[in-house]
Amino acid sequence: MLRTHTCGQLRIADVRKKVSLCGWVQRSRDFGGMTFMDLRDRYGITQLVFNMETNAVLCQQARELGREFVIKANGEVSERSNKNPKLPTGDIEIIVESFEILNQSKLPPFTIEDNTDGGEELRMKYRYLDLRRNPVKLNMELRHRMAFEIRKYLDEQSFIEIETPVLIKSTPEGARDYVVPSRVNPGEFYALPQSPQTFKQLLMVAGFDRYFQIVKCFRDEDLRADRQPEFTQIDCEMSFVSQEDIFYTFEGLVKHLFNAVKGINIDNFPRMTYADAIKHYGSDKPDIRFGMTFIELTEIVKGKEFKIFDDAELVVGINATGCADYTRKQIDELTEFVKKPQIGAGGLIYLRYAADGSLKSSVDKFYNPDELKKWVETFKAQPGDLMLIMAGPAAKTRKALNELRLEMGSRLGLRNPDTYKPLWVYDFPLLEWDEETQRYYAMHHPFTSPRPEDVPLLQTNPGEVCANAYDMVINGVEVGGGSIRIHNRDMQFEMLRVLGFKDEEALSQFGFLMNAFEYGAPPHGGIAFGFDRLCSLFGGTESIRDFIAFPKNNSARDVMIDSPSAISEEQLKELGICLIGTDRNKI
Ligand code: AMO
Repeated sequence: MLRTHTCGQLRIADVRKKVSLCGWVQRSRDFGGMTFMDLRDRYGITQLVFNMETNAVLCQQARELGREFVIKANGEVSERSNKNPKLPTGDIEIIVESFEILNQSKLPPFTIEDNTDGGEELRMKYRYLDLRRNPVKLNMELRHRMAFEIRKYLDEQSFIEIETPVLIKSTPEGARDYVVPSRVNPGEFYALPQSPQTFKQLLMVAGFDRYFQIVKCFRDEDLRADRQPEFTQIDCEMSFVSQEDIFYTFEGLVKHLFNAVKGINIDNFPRMTYADAIKHYGSDKPDIRFGMTFIELTEIVKGKEFKIFDDAELVVGINATGCADYTRKQIDELTEFVKKPQIGAGGLIYLRYAADGSLKSSVDKFYNPDELKKWVETFKAQPGDLMLIMAGPAAKTRKALNELRLEMGSRLGLRNPDTYKPLWVYDFPLLEWDEETQRYYAMHHPFTSPRPEDVPLLQTNPGEVCANAYDMVINGVEVGGGSIRIHNRDMQFEMLRVLGFKDEEALSQFGFLMNAFEYGAPPHGGIAFGFDRLCSLFGGTESIRDFIAFPKNNSARDVMIDSPSAISEEQLKELGICLIGTDRNKI
């Protein structure tokens, strides 16, 4: 080894030891006779000291070292007179006797500090420098610790990790597939997996019983803070299980992770049906760290000549406890918030229940105090509360009120990132109707089983069928989702027919799976967690990018390696690809 210790290792007990440290020059400070330098590596920072009086040449050389130079310093550990309690190595320093430059560095384009001056785009372009910064490094360490604990827990539960292929087959359901041309099969393409779903089911047919994989998945979809085109799943599948068994096993995983990684005990995993989540929170991923659940007023507000309410399918509100003293300006701000195009509400109606018991609303001319009292009773509001109400088509209004609820939760400090409230959302609809294409889509995926009691509805009223499907939600983030699968060929065929597949299409796309079901497929089910999302939740930030070593930006680009990029005419030719109607320079 070039070094005897790391930069995070030496303590007061090491005083007088001769040591060699390697690392990057974080910063240096010259004080006439002395130069102090912070040497940094992955493990920490150690202060180096160069003394002009005892070794002027060395001190002069040290003063010429630039930021981020890589050096090896040899010297003796000494007790610091001016200790730094903020650093684990803050009691000591190294009196340097000699050093060598292992490599020089250009001046980095941004400071390698916790609070850097570098903007997002610049840091992504030089991600290897960004990764040197402590907060980003800690995120990588957290990710590693979590992956390690996940493997440990699942191994103890008899799961085995099996790799599944990355070059697979595109399906008509996979509109967001990334595709890869095959050179040896001109004109044909592989697809990168959106998830290893069918393979893990085949592993159940193969008898593996309990499978998992920490695996890259690829989806060519619009990006958001919690979505990346390539992301990682903790993909799991089990045979001979009910939904209850899945809940039990994976509550265990989440409990273990919180305990081992954050020292937090989680013992409550409430359950909520999809229908209740939508009714009470307007979202299938409710943040239950706070209440402010939806209160419906549709029945009590109609017939008073207030057109917006009279015409509305749904009138629904939330009670912002203790917010009656909100100013006109604050309420206007909330109104502007819900009218933003991303939220799209027509407006916001308020009812203020002042601390002195008086009532004031934005619709006073339509409703007398007795009528408004009824609203108060429905909300179970107390003096000092502010009721915020929206009206319109049910689904759209609930969606918008969900945004307002979350905004109020944030404004009132009710969404503490250090509080963790998981829950299961279950009984999802099996199918979703799409107006544009006039057909049903699987809400989860086409391999999810309907609830047995709902199977007859598949013929008569498919939209009403509930699935054996569930999501795990923590603090309003969908961290995982899964289902009990179909394991019967006829049922799978039926499901594909409902989804609009012709029999030949169903066979050509999913024949391999349906054939496998004819060779003793066990009942099975599973779940996949979004690993990046779990990491960001544990790390207390919203963007999963911070927890991915080399992420893509919002346009799905890697700005560091400049990808995606055009390929040469020769490569295209070899792959049998002809680009039609595209400007080659703009590809
Ligand atoms: P699903 O599509 O719900 O299920 O994905 C499982 C979990 O993966 C995470 N996730 C993502 N994370 C980051 N970026 C993305 N683009 C992204 N898309 C999804 C979410 C989600 O809950 N095969 C099924 C699982 C199963 O049925 O077992 C599946 O992929 O946290």
